[in-house]
Amino acid sequence: MKQIINKPDKSIVWQALSAQAQLASRKSYSPYSNFKVGSAALTTENTIVQGCNVENASYGLTVCAERNCIAQGVINNASGNTVEFIAMVIYTEQEKLTPPCGACRQVISEFFPRTAQVMATNHLNAQQLWTVEQLLPDAFLPDDLLG
Ligand code: THU
Repeated sequence: MKQIINKPDKSIVWQALSAQAQLASRKSYSPYSNFKVGSAALTTENTIVQGCNVENASYGLTVCAERNCIAQGVINNASGNTVEFIAMVIYTEQEKLTPPCGACRQVISEFFPRTAQVMATNHLNAQQLWTVEQLLPDAFLPDDLLG
């Protein structure tokens, strides 16, 4: 697979986001897969929200760390406007980094600018970066509902 090389936006607090994503991964409820995923996102209000994957005995009702993180941002938003995010980190404690799944790419696209960066990282501080546009080109977006 082609590796995308992007440079991290230096204005983003990547270290703080990675630390929060690591803490979130420890809260993962994943008794079925044992695959602990943590996520943290920075909002335009300069707050950091966390998410972890929450599995279910039905399997199919599992919700990924990224989508739970975005839900946290929606819930904690005190601005009176719809929450907006600037950047996200996804943390897993394994050598192979974890990219967001297809469902999460769609939900990320709803709340992040097309140029926002999403980083996958791990305990070795390996990093891979994508823009939201790279994660889901030609996404179906709120604008597409306006006919
Ligand atoms: N998972 C996430 O939380 N985020 C991802 O980006 C990939 C997958 C979770 C869902 C499930 O609980 C476990 O990882 C195995 O798929």
